[in-house]
Amino acid sequence: MKRFENKVCIVTGAASGIGQATAIAFAKEGAKVVLADIGDMTETAQALNIHQSSFIILNCNIGKREEVVNLIETTVKTFGRINCAVNSAGIAGKLSLPVHEYPEEDWLNQIQINLVGTYYCVKLQLEQMMKQGGGNIVCVSSAAGLVGQPDNSSYAASKHGVNGLVKSAAIEYATKNIRINAICPTAIETPMIMHGRRNLAENPAALEQAKNHQRMKRMGQPSEVADVALWLCSDQSSFITGHCMAVDGGAFA
Ligand SMILES: NC(=O)c1ccc[n+]([C@@H]2O[C@H](COP(=O)([O-])OP(=O)(O)OC[C@H]3O[C@@H](n4cnc5c(N)ncnc54)[C@H](O)[C@@H]3O)[C@@H](O)[C@H]2O)c1
Repeated sequence: MKRFENKVCIVTGAASGIGQATAIAFAKEGAKVVLADIGDMTETAQALNIHQSSFIILNCNIGKREEVVNLIETTVKTFGRINCAVNSAGIAGKLSLPVHEYPEEDWLNQIQINLVGTYYCVKLQLEQMMKQGGGNIVCVSSAAGLVGQPDNSSYAASKHGVNGLVKSAAIEYATKNIRINAICPTAIETPMIMHGRRNLAENPAALEQAKNHQRMKRMGQPSEVADVALWLCSDQSSFITGHCMAVDGGAFA
């Protein structure tokens, strides 16, 4: 029997990067997968078809409460429950600026998506998990949720907020058969980082520098984060909750 056979798993941010890799990993392990994103999920859907996975695709902007309500309601209507949720949807700012120069609208938008949007997901997933008597949530946070990140304060504040939410909820639901953890990656080779603030895809020198900055002299792969997300969602991590786990190739060692 596959590890997630008959389990219903929501993945936000499923169109790209870590969310896409997580959705594919769940499908390989036999899960029924709910793909949620604002982006085009065709590529992810094609990969899931190869694994003959049962899945649905939902357009969902996590920053809009009513769209997250629809995500939860449609999941339950379609599959009856939510066993696991991996909340990977998020944005990174395109600017590198100190706090006093950072445009307020951009600053607040990152908080709205990364923190408030993740809060909507977590809150509504917990509501359903309380009704059904258990569940498992993983939020994809960031190493920027563990330490400050100069010229990127909004992103760092949003991810510190996610870690605070995860730790607090973990304690609140520890006796309710619900576990909630965060993953805090450093540089993972996804469109976010390749086309982000430093535009590494078009800047070979910066890409080389970014790799050299890593202890392993390479960036992490989305599948290396997905593997951790699945493990945290599985019974193999049954005594772990409220953990904000660095997936960092040794950066915090
Ligand atoms: N790549 C890295 O190095 C890295 C490092 C640390 C943390 N993270 C975090 O990992 C998560 C996934 O990022 P990624 O690297 O896979 O980036 P990505 O850009 O490849 O994927 C992010 C996905 O989230 C979706 N998304 C953005 N805003 C959304 C919204 N409002 N509602 C629904 N979906 C939305 C995008 O359309 C995209 O498909 C993010 O939360 C990010 O902050 C990434």
